[in-house]
Amino acid sequence: MSDASRSRYTSVAIALHWAMAVLLIFMILLGWNMDDNEARFQLHKSVGITILFLALSRLGWRFANPPPPLPEGMPKIEKTASHMVHVAFYALMIGVPLAGWFMVSVSPFQVSTVLYGVLSWPHLPFTERLRSEGVYGVAEFFHSKSAWLIFGLLALHVAGAVKHEIGAEDGVLKRMLPGLFGKAEPPALPGRGFVFAFGGSLALFAAIAAVPLIFSGGNGEAKAAPVSSIQSNWDVDYAASEIRFDGVHEGRAFGGTFGTWTADVAFWPEDLARSAVQVVVDTRSIRTGTKLYDDNLRGKEWFNPGEFPEAVVVLSDFAEAAGGYTATARITLKGKAVSVPLAFTLEIAGNEATLSGSAELSRKALDLGQLSDPGAAYVADAVMVTLSGKAARRS
Ligand code: HEM
Ligand code: HEM
Repeated sequence: MSDASRSRYTSVAIALHWAMAVLLIFMILLGWNMDDNEARFQLHKSVGITILFLALSRLGWRFANPPPPLPEGMPKIEKTASHMVHVAFYALMIGVPLAGWFMVSVSPFQVSTVLYGVLSWPHLPFTERLRSEGVYGVAEFFHSKSAWLIFGLLALHVAGAVKHEIGAEDGVLKRMLPGLFGKAEPPALPGRGFVFAFGGSLALFAAIAAVPLIFSGGNGEAKAAPVSSIQSNWDVDYAASEIRFDGVHEGRAFGGTFGTWTADVAFWPEDLARSAVQVVVDTRSIRTGTKLYDDNLRGKEWFNPGEFPEAVVVLSDFAEAAGGYTATARITLKGKAVSVPLAFTLEIAGNEATLSGSAELSRKALDLGQLSDPGAAYVADAVMVTLSGKAARRS
């Protein structure tokens, strides 16, 4: 046949076919071996969304570059069967990742998806009302059983390809093999429809990925900071001060800081009864250095900064203790208040003060992550908060 494009698939179609075949089998094996391992879940979701992107691009490519017609001698029923297997494959390449995305969107355990550790991926829109065990179960049934559908179709597909390769019609497999395997002419590369197929999918996926960026500031009204009656006699050096937290996730230490906060400090070592401190923390400024943690901590069941952009900490009951001071820290977070003891040291040299303190908090008491992990199976209940900072005495 002189027109190469009529006897073989294009190089792009061949590359997509084999890359996606490998990815799909990898995904099924990974899906069966996730063992509650969060890193594997995230990889599964990342590759799955990639498959969805490739499947849409592949459909667009196929539209612009129709496959070569099947050999003339092939019985009609076999042509129809082959076509139906291909249609079913396309339906699964789109339906299975969509079901996975739907599943994580309606799951009562709202875990964020961060593609390849760098790109926040939103939940499917309009699924909030469907969030329940029941709906999740239905989606999970389809999602997990589809693995067997893929294997069933693959058996038919490979049997068909082999039969028509060695049978009378000859050369069906060569149509889908890269040039280096076939003795026939090299794969056709009309190069038509790149922008349509890949550009279209890319634009759609970029628009979806833009959603978390646009709404990352939270849609809740920023409430005015509580007016403090504290007559500050110290100015905090924010550049030299830090509010840090440290915890344990799946046996590994994690930690981070709140980037934005303000403090009113009235403190007299000689008059502790008159001393008072109020710290207002912008919960949107939480940062761990790991995108997946940041996205989860900014989620509704954790700090929920969209609705509660501020946490307020009031220190009172100052007392001297061995080597330093103790105080009570009353933390108001998400509309609820919890009091914990705080121990700190304060070194005052002239008008300069250096503070170092710590308090142990309970996630349960503060209602953090109590939906997905109330038993602290993944994230330890105890979180250590450490404060370090410098302040200058007002003259
Ligand atoms: C073509 C792409 C995909 C394939 C072939 C696939 C396949 C699988 C398989 C075989 C399992 C194991 C099910 C079982 O335990 O029997 C699984 C589990 C899972 N998949 Fe996928 N998946 C794909 C895409 C996705 C996507 C895009 C997401 C989410 C964005 C996702 C989320 C999940 C979750 C959360 C589970 C665990 C379900 C559970 O045990 O509760 N998957 N997947
Ligand atoms: C899960 C793995 C696989 C999937 C999802 C898959 C899917 C597909 C699809 C959708 C097509 C139609 C292409 C189109 O018209 O755009 C196709 C064609 C083809 N596939 Fe696969 N495939 C897989 C694995 C394999 C394997 C292992 C072989 C090797 C025997 C194979 C051989 C072929 C051949 C020869 C064609 C061309 C058939 C024709 O021209 O009608 N595929 N495949």
